[in-house]
Amino acid sequence: MLDSSIKEQLNTVRDYIRYGASSFNRAGLYFGHGTDNAWDEATALVLHSLHLSPYSKLEVLDARLTDAEKDAVADIFEQRIGQRVPTPYLIGESWFAGLKFHVDDRVLIPRSPIAELIESEFAPWLYIQPQRILDLCTGSGCIGIACALAFPDAQVLLSDISRDALAVAEKNIAEHEVGERVTTVESDLFAAVSECFDFIVANPPYVDADDLSMMPEEYRHEPKLALASGRDGLDFTRRLLREAAEYLSEKGCLCVEVGNSREHLEEEFPGVPFNWLDFERGGQGVFILYRQDLIACADCLG
Ligand SMILES: C[S@@+](CC[C@H](N)C(=O)[O-])C[C@H]1O[C@@H](n2cnc3c(N)ncnc32)[C@H](O)[C@@H]1O
Repeated sequence: MLDSSIKEQLNTVRDYIRYGASSFNRAGLYFGHGTDNAWDEATALVLHSLHLSPYSKLEVLDARLTDAEKDAVADIFEQRIGQRVPTPYLIGESWFAGLKFHVDDRVLIPRSPIAELIESEFAPWLYIQPQRILDLCTGSGCIGIACALAFPDAQVLLSDISRDALAVAEKNIAEHEVGERVTTVESDLFAAVSECFDFIVANPPYVDADDLSMMPEEYRHEPKLALASGRDGLDFTRRLLREAAEYLSEKGCLCVEVGNSREHLEEEFPGVPFNWLDFERGGQGVFILYRQDLIACADCLG
């Protein structure tokens, strides 16, 4: 609830966006879930509370709020500031590769730089048109569904160990109307997967124990299963590297994000020819390996 004197002084959409942005900055919020500043977050939260599109006309900025609308905006600001809930969970949506995805606290909020690779169809790394794609650790399904739309002839399997996450992925499959080509499976890594793929893409959990303990409060609203992967962040990726070749077709290719854990990975596997990718819009720690590389390095992968 807003103090009644503040409530009297704030009247328009513009007033509430400005007040929210100032309050977020004063509270020292962390902006790492799809926006990088207080103004964009305040705008998203105010428009959402008023049931207005993010693409509303500028004239809306001078519209006055009713008392009930002021209370609704104050309530959502309180959740953002008091509980540090990330904005995408409060508005129930997030954007990835130019597409809108439903999100809630059962899934990681999409932010992988892999979006940029999907938009360019993984050129020049993928030199076959993939017919079968596996999105391992799918969470909301954002990577696999965006791949399905980028490769309209491909069949895509979305897999995750979390049944809760898969329920969100299924909702997004329906929203994007790709149910004929995109299916889900509940699986610990490859345990419930029995076929081969031309392309396996994964944004697995990879945060190491030190980084996890220092993450801003906002990240504690995300499932720990989506972030943590042992002391050095590589528990999942080590298993993936050992097993992936068996699930890749002859010319198949593996694309994995490991973020800051790149350093640990290179130290542990100096003989593996990781192709580390560059990004125009920021991000790092994503590699590509081909099946033949994985087979050639099978001994050093253990
Ligand atoms: C970093 S999130 C990525 C979500 C989504 N791909 C994205 O980029 O937004 C990692 C996902 O891996 C899943 N996961 C964790 N351990 C797993 C395992 N052993 N096998 C399969 N999925 C796992 C988590 O449930 C979580 O949804």
